[in-house]
Parts: sequence; C-alpha cells; structure tokens
Amino acid sequence: MNEPHAAVVAEEFVALYGREPEGVWQAPGRINLIGEHTDYNDGFVLPVALPHAARVAVARRDDGVVRVHSSQGAGAVVEFTVDSLAPGSVAGWAAYPAGALWVLREDGHALPGIDLHLDSDVPFGAGLSSSAALQCAVLLALDDLLGLGVARPRLARLAQRAENDYVGAPVGVMDQTASLCCAEGAALFLDTRDMAQRQVPLDLAAAGLVLLVVDTRVEHGHADGAYRQRREGCERSADLLGVKALRDVEASGGAELDALLARLPGEELRRLARHVVTENARVLEAVRLLDEGRLRALGPVLTAGHASQRDDFAISCPQSDTAVDTALVAGALGARQTGGGFGGCVIVLTEPARVPGITAAIAAAYAARDGWNAPAFFTATPAPGARRLR
Ligand code: GLA
Repeated sequence: MNEPHAAVVAEEFVALYGREPEGVWQAPGRINLIGEHTDYNDGFVLPVALPHAARVAVARRDDGVVRVHSSQGAGAVVEFTVDSLAPGSVAGWAAYPAGALWVLREDGHALPGIDLHLDSDVPFGAGLSSSAALQCAVLLALDDLLGLGVARPRLARLAQRAENDYVGAPVGVMDQTASLCCAEGAALFLDTRDMAQRQVPLDLAAAGLVLLVVDTRVEHGHADGAYRQRREGCERSADLLGVKALRDVEASGGAELDALLARLPGEELRRLARHVVTENARVLEAVRLLDEGRLRALGPVLTAGHASQRDDFAISCPQSDTAVDTALVAGALGARQTGGGFGGCVIVLTEPARVPGITAAIAAAYAARDGWNAPAFFTATPAPGARRLR
C-alpha cells in the first residue's frame, strides 16, 4: 500500500532537485492506547503505530549544503549548511528535519550535505505525533544511507533530544519510540526508564472490535506552557516524595496512595502525581488484559484513563470530554483522549456495528455547540514502524 506513496515522493524529489533520490523512507504517526504523561516520569506507555506516515526522499551532496522541502510547507525550499546548525537556527516545519541533522552531528557523526523532500499524511496538530514522524523518517534515512548503525531505541532518544533541545519542546520519548519501534498488529509496551520493550499482539478484528479515532479538531502544541508546567509539577512531586521519578512511587492506588500523596503541599501536585501513578498501573493492567486476550475488558481501563486526565491531570477539554461521554452513551466499550492533551484525538474501543451510531452522535453533539469545528473520524489498524520503502 505504501509503495505508490514512495513513487510519488521520489517523483516529486526529481521534479524539485533534478536528480534521483538515493532512497525513500517512512516513519508513522501513532495513537497511544494508554500511558499518558508517564514517559517523562520514567513510566510505561502502550502506543500503536498508524498507517499515516511521514515519507522522505533523500540524496547526498558533497558541499555541506542542506536543502529541505515539504509538500505541506507552502512551496519554498529551505536551505542551510550542516555547519551552521544550532538550536533554533531553522524555524517552522523545517526545524524538524534540521533538528534531526543537528542531533546526529552533535552525536559525533560526520554529515555530508543533503537534498531532502518530505511528504506526510499524519494530520498536523491532531496529537498523532506528526512531528516525531518527520524527525524519525529523516533520522532513519540518514542512519541507513550513511551506515551509522544506531540502534532504534537510541535513534528514538536522539529524536527526543532534537525535539527537546533543537525545537524546544520538553516532550518524553514515547512518540519517537513508537514511530521507530512499533510492529504491525501490535501495541508497543515500553518502559521509558530503560527502553525495554515488548510487542503485545493487538488483533482487534479477531476480537470483533475496532479502534475509532475521533479528531476533536482542537489543535494542541507542546512547546507551549501547559505541557511544560505538568512536567515540572511531576518532577517537583517526585523530589518532594524523595523518589527519582513518579514511576518509583510504591502504592498504585486507594488509601495507601492517598496517604503517601498527602505529604505533597497542595491539591494540585497531589492530583498530578495521582494521575501518573494510577496511569502507570493502568498500562500494566492493559498489557495483562491484552496478554490474556481479553480485549473487551480494555474498555473500562481506557475510560478510567480519561477520567484521570480530566479530573487529576487537567489536560482534557470540552470537545474531548464530549467525544468520550457521547461515545459511551452510544454504546462504546471505552474511550479516552490520546496524546499530549488539550484537544487532539480521542480513541474509542467499540464493535464495528456501533461505529455509524457513535460517529453520528459525536458529530451531532459538536454541531449543537457554538464555534466547535466538525470532528473527523477514522479507524486505526496497528501499522508497522519506520522502514525503508525503496
Ligand atoms: C506528547 C509527548 C509525549 C508524551 C505525550 C503524553 O505526545 O510528545 O512524549 O508525553 O504527549 O503522554
């Protein structure tokens, strides 16, 4: 299915630069089943790669010049040199490929000049990791083309560093690892502390289920204050509780956890910490259910995750709350906002026969509200991680 995409990207490269690319690579976007805002707390996540991907055609140059172009980037080719790269030196969409080159150079790799053309069908600003997909596509392409031999989990760490230090967004390592390491038909169970990972089979069709993705059409961003503020609150809570990271809090819920969190000064930090601790427990529970083949039982775990994002972590929004509530009333097994929050997408676990009713109910609920964008829908099938297309 992706080979036609590869041909298109290669043809566009030829039209732009007047020569053939040396290869075409792609890296997917993702949804996260469960495990939100746990990745910068050394915790667990369970993402799934999407069929939507960023694709990149690349050819080396021998003059140290980099030219980048994106089909989504308003036409212009952006040009700079490898030597001139420094955090923030390139802005806009081109910061993602520039950051990928910067981080490889910082990691000690000698880079040639490069011509690069990007094309992505990962919806931008929808919380589906469109930026990680761009960076991972470029990193994998260069690793492969230059024979650098960097293992994928380490490539994910480099992509995270590019996003943290070049682009300036204080994100964790989930999205990049999902893009590089996910496998078709599986969710990726990742321990972000040591990058240990396992593919957990996720055969939705065999269980008579689908994952419906609802794009709330509320754009989110991670370079802004709210994400950073959550992250800082978590780190402060861990400090005050005397643990390396919130991952290390020993109680997973109930009165024991409440007693422990009572040591934190103020309700805000307690709520942030409670979300992270209970969310880690939900990831472990979800993995257990998938291992046991009990996919329907995943529903309530997803819904509990949403409640925690809404009530404790305070990162949902009226549109995502409405999508979740409406889906549940229309018969879904479970639903939650996925990704960084403050909008983006909601995932809904349901039977295929209920999809038309759920989408109609959510569309109607949105249409009844002043100023809400119409939601968009697609169903997610667990796709392969990043790879070379030609
Ligand atoms: C964004 C970040 C990730 C992660 C999620 C929340 O997608 O890029 O690192 O923190 O938010 O789980």
